[in-house]
Amino acid sequence: MPDLAARFAEIFGPSADLRTVRAPGRVNLIGEHTDYNDGLVMPMALARAVRIALLPQEEPAVRLWSEQFAERAEFALGEAPGDETPHWLRYPMAVAAVLAEEGLALGGFRGVVDGDVPVGAGLSSSAACEVASALALLVSARPEIPPGPAASAAEAHGLTGERLARLCQAAEHRVGVRCGIMDQFISVHGRAGHAVMLDCRDLSHRSVPLPAGEAAVVVIDSGVQRKLTAGAYNERRSQCEDGAARLAEFDPAVESLRDVSRDLFEAHADALPTTVRRRCRHVVTENARVLESVEALEAGDLARFGRLVSASHDSLRDDYEVSGPELDLLVTIAREVDGVLGSRLTGAGFGGCTVSLVRPDAVDSLRNAVMARYQAETGLQPRLWTSPAADGAGVET
Ligand code: GLA
Repeated sequence: MPDLAARFAEIFGPSADLRTVRAPGRVNLIGEHTDYNDGLVMPMALARAVRIALLPQEEPAVRLWSEQFAERAEFALGEAPGDETPHWLRYPMAVAAVLAEEGLALGGFRGVVDGDVPVGAGLSSSAACEVASALALLVSARPEIPPGPAASAAEAHGLTGERLARLCQAAEHRVGVRCGIMDQFISVHGRAGHAVMLDCRDLSHRSVPLPAGEAAVVVIDSGVQRKLTAGAYNERRSQCEDGAARLAEFDPAVESLRDVSRDLFEAHADALPTTVRRRCRHVVTENARVLESVEALEAGDLARFGRLVSASHDSLRDDYEVSGPELDLLVTIAREVDGVLGSRLTGAGFGGCTVSLVRPDAVDSLRNAVMARYQAETGLQPRLWTSPAADGAGVET
């Protein structure tokens, strides 16, 4: 990323009082399409992030230069987006609206926003943008907020980190997707060297150490831009709600698929329409896989964790039907490499990335295998990188 302070000086003029905020993207290790079913997820924050260098200003307006989109745009606090509003600006606008409705005092600012979370790759660049925007607005209102984690900046405004994540999720709902809480939560609460097991029902969470010396987390971008995601995503969500409502007829304690045990599901699976039955089977078994994964990681059993990761992919492919030929090919190539413990699509699916758990000395073999086969078979250029688990968002300076 270029030096944001230097870019700020070029665009808005130099200032000695610049602040910078940062919010990471994420990769989900396991627990996919469970968050909006009150279920369990286990993401980690990436070293890749959205950053904003900003100068608070008196005027209640936000003037932004987006380095990634090479575009300047602005909005007044309180203004609703119009037809002309660039898509990238809709996120900070929605965040400002949601925070204002929460009763927070917000400050205007001038800022340069940039990020190295690839957009549209399923690594939550939008959640990172929302959380970074929220921090920029909070810091602008109270420039006395010192550098520190996002939760501390939230506390200066009487919010918890969890609430901040919820508000950013609400902003995402306004822009398009009825997402769950996972992406915004991990962007706020990531912890270096750890995955976070989050219970999306009550937001209780626990850090699970990732033994980086024994397994690398490798992210491979399929190069397939996620298309039609919002429609297919929202449809999956409705199918899950339908399944939960049907199963509640057999057990009134069922409020969401989180309440459906394997036994309950198996006893009444026949009463569900075929597609709904498959969607429910994915969610019920995926929640169980997350719990087993925590056990496996805490016992140092990476081979078992890897098998669960791979089983998650098969379930997403066959039952949830959110994979595609390119993601399946990346997973197949990875699984044939010695030292790859498990591989799956990550995020919503329909394109985007896979995540693989790989013995450190096998990362090069995986890279070579992907480079040799993937482009030849798909004509697409894959991108591959390893990432340590990073800390969550914060005010940097
Ligand atoms: C997207 C959503 C998340 C989650 C995943 C699927 O990333 O934003 O809330 O539902 O898809 O697990």
